[in-house]
Amino acid sequence: MCGIVGYVGDGKASDFLIEGLRRLEYRGYDSSGIAVFENGKIEIKKKQGRLINLENLIKEMPVSGHIGIGHTRWATHGKPSDINAHPHGDSHNRFVVVHNGIIENYMELKKKLIQKGHTFKSETDTEVVAHLAEDLDDGDFLSTIKKVLSVIDGSYSLVFMDAEQPDTLICTKKDNPLIIGLGEKENFIASDIPAVINYTRRIYILNDGEIAVVKKDSVHVYDADGLPVSKKVQEITWSAEAAEKNGYPHFMMKEIYEQPKAIYDTIHIHLTKDGEVKFDNLNWTKNSLESIDNILITACGTAYHAGLVAKHYIEQFTKIPVQVEIASEYRYSKPLTTARTLCIVVSQSGETIDTLAALKEAKRLGAQSIAITNSIGSSIARESDAAIYTLAGPEIAVASTKAYTTQLVILLLLSLYMGQLKETISKELVHHMVEEFKVLPKQIEKVLTENKHMEKVAQRFIQAEDIFYLGRSIDYAIAMEGALKLKEISYIHAEAYAAGELKHGTLALITPDTPIIAVATQEEVMAKMYSNIEEVRARGAEVLGIGYDDDAELEKYTTEIVKIPRVDEFISPILSVIPMQLLAYYTGIKKGNDVDKPRNLAKSVTVE
Ligand code: F6R
Repeated sequence: MCGIVGYVGDGKASDFLIEGLRRLEYRGYDSSGIAVFENGKIEIKKKQGRLINLENLIKEMPVSGHIGIGHTRWATHGKPSDINAHPHGDSHNRFVVVHNGIIENYMELKKKLIQKGHTFKSETDTEVVAHLAEDLDDGDFLSTIKKVLSVIDGSYSLVFMDAEQPDTLICTKKDNPLIIGLGEKENFIASDIPAVINYTRRIYILNDGEIAVVKKDSVHVYDADGLPVSKKVQEITWSAEAAEKNGYPHFMMKEIYEQPKAIYDTIHIHLTKDGEVKFDNLNWTKNSLESIDNILITACGTAYHAGLVAKHYIEQFTKIPVQVEIASEYRYSKPLTTARTLCIVVSQSGETIDTLAALKEAKRLGAQSIAITNSIGSSIARESDAAIYTLAGPEIAVASTKAYTTQLVILLLLSLYMGQLKETISKELVHHMVEEFKVLPKQIEKVLTENKHMEKVAQRFIQAEDIFYLGRSIDYAIAMEGALKLKEISYIHAEAYAAGELKHGTLALITPDTPIIAVATQEEVMAKMYSNIEEVRARGAEVLGIGYDDDAELEKYTTEIVKIPRVDEFISPILSVIPMQLLAYYTGIKKGNDVDKPRNLAKSVTVE
């Protein structure tokens, strides 16, 4: 999704702007641009395609000014093109703006501005914002921007330049992230921390409605009513290397291999010395949990798949019914959420607009809420009654891997915690699971040794046009994540099916050319799973089984198996997904795809 940067200081603005945009490339984009104040006017340079195109343009026509803004665009209104790329200016490039999000009422605003004589160059909603500033200009930069904000609807983070005030940037946000990096005789603006990490570790995180006036020596923040806000400086603790590839060929591979550590970090702060589970920031009691009749989990994509696994955990450990809803569907499903609902939202980025909107709707209907997110201070974390963090570290590859497995860990710990408080599970079960958690990082390391094996399987699978992922019970939820991973990285059509449902129609598609991945870790449905595997083998399909290393039976039914260590069946999803992540990675690589930035996709999806 779009990235934003801004600079004001003694340095050459374009140096930071380009470097910052490079650090935000992982968000996915189709064009980029910068605007720099130079020789009494604002110069805009923008280019469709990769950042290198913009860099080449700047090499040909350098800009050396000390204040500027930059943007990587992921098209929403108007196709990817040089003209639609940001920054956008008004008729005279007096006010110039970069924007993330969507201006929902831009059509009616544009119509009125055209009637007043404004001419538009691009098809974007953003250009309207620059023209509005020109139209509403009252001679005072801040007051003009406030007027602009009072007429636009939608979600945004915005950074403005004014050619008449070339020492000042003004920025603001609503439902989209924006931070300010604090330097010495220079300040930075960015939509995400990696953009500024090489320049400063001290940041302000802007809240919705706040407006910041940023100069080289000062940052003044005002709330929506125009009152000064005293912001707390946040220190960034993670290292610059954490956002780099660390010797791995791709972020995705690095992040797959970071799972033992990410999981250790996420688990250990929630275990007590007595072998129980704790969540220090949740002030739940047995009584408060008794007031919850039902649980709603809502999320998108991979995070939604984590929710599907969690349904099994929570229902078994707490006996509270759980509904799992795709966030973009939830709001329009006439939900039956009440004050007795606990809404759990799951989001790696904490900025997914569909998930944020679902959370707001659940809250409007009276639900209590918890966010499970990897992003401290994110919109979703702040909007929820409480936030629980997956400590996965920055996830740069578009395809989620370590964020997913840490989400599973937190959801399992949370379910145990609820069961522990409600006394719906025994102390022995909690102790047993805590012991399993302690050895989990080592078990993951063992599964990662399947790396070369999965590379070989990938070599065969690149020929396939369709691949089916089968599972029953929790394994079906994991199969869904495996199929999504393969689709997004390899561009091969993959579909997850509840293994018992295949014979009700889809079995017609199974031929010797349709490889099958069968996840088989749940004892209760194991015999049935073997029969379902037989059904596809009978149609000539090759079957790659994923099961326990001591399951000799599975080996008999499948063509080949990938072994995971024998663990508790609630833990097994955290292991069985890893070979599927590796398979997706290698299939993508062998097909020559950009696995870190798959086509058409963005890391943080901040449009509905
Ligand atoms: C797939 C993937 C996406 C995200 C989804 C939600 O690998 O990463 O499906 O899971 O876009 O994103 P977050 O978790 O940031 O809300």
